[in-house]
Amino acid sequence: MRQGRVTELAKSAAIGEGGVCLLSGTAVNPSALHSAYAAGSLLAVEHLTVADVAGILALTSRLEKMSVANRARVLTGRTIVLLFYESSTRTRTSFELAAKSLGATTTLVSDKSSSIEKGESLKDTGLTLRALGAECIILRHPASGAPFLLAQVTGLPVLNAGDGMHQHPSQALLDLRTILQRLRKDVCTVHAKTLDGVTVVIVGDILHSRVARSNAMLLPRLGARVVLCGPAELLPEDALGMGAGIEVERDMDRALARADVAMMLRIQKERLAGFDLNLGEYIARYQLSVERLAAKAPKAVVMHPGPIIRGLEIVGEVADGPQSAIEEQVAQGLAVRRALLVRALGVQA
Ligand code: CP
Repeated sequence: MRQGRVTELAKSAAIGEGGVCLLSGTAVNPSALHSAYAAGSLLAVEHLTVADVAGILALTSRLEKMSVANRARVLTGRTIVLLFYESSTRTRTSFELAAKSLGATTTLVSDKSSSIEKGESLKDTGLTLRALGAECIILRHPASGAPFLLAQVTGLPVLNAGDGMHQHPSQALLDLRTILQRLRKDVCTVHAKTLDGVTVVIVGDILHSRVARSNAMLLPRLGARVVLCGPAELLPEDALGMGAGIEVERDMDRALARADVAMMLRIQKERLAGFDLNLGEYIARYQLSVERLAAKAPKAVVMHPGPIIRGLEIVGEVADGPQSAIEEQVAQGLAVRRALLVRALGVQA
């Protein structure tokens, strides 16, 4: 998607969904601003070099190989806060379990049960958490750009756990490790050609998907071809502008026939107000059914970031079937997020 379009989406999401104007109408230029943030922050995938990604994967593997007892000493005495303004199962739980498995103290602050409900701003919440000893904040927020603001005002390392329609960088990293494992490639490191010849088809609501955006911006840098597939309402043609190595294919059968990996996305009903989407037609054209998978992609790895809506974008038999790597994705989330926490706190492991 062109930068202008991303900026426009980011601004509207920040103001409309967050209920507060976090970006004050200024354009988001993450790459230019990155050096302003604490080392170890992960705000967007484009901040990571291929060498950084290789380093995170290597650290993931080192932590995985440690004994439980040794691992539990890596972040002893460190304090990590999970700050969640949106519901989450996978991301929240895996970050929390990852931090606890490393010996860190964690606390969860949710918009539903904190002074955020009384109108406290993100800035004041962040400063309060820092005053209480937070050394790293994991933030999920409905406004695109919110993690940048939090990182700027607190000076703490911030891990973006999903911001509006912008990015979900830790999801892209866990998806990468899942793909490497399923395709029997080295999970300990990557380089610019690791995914040469691999086609990843991402199907569904690309427009609103922070997962699609992060994957589309990460995987081609490692050699993959990313084919985006969906109807025009959910996949604007200007998605091609997100970067090199990205294609748009409206016909799901044609896209699937090329897929080494088929990544399905949830239809985000909560973001579809004002959209005239015929769900029956959508299912007919874009649902991953048993028949479609068998006919077009009998060997493809099936992925989905969750939550899954069975019977809509994917049928239960496929989600539970042998080609599905959905539970592996969840498990990889725990492993990769351990590495992101250790990196965030600048600990050698
Ligand atoms: N994939 C993902 O972000 O899931 P949750 O919303 O459950 O964290």
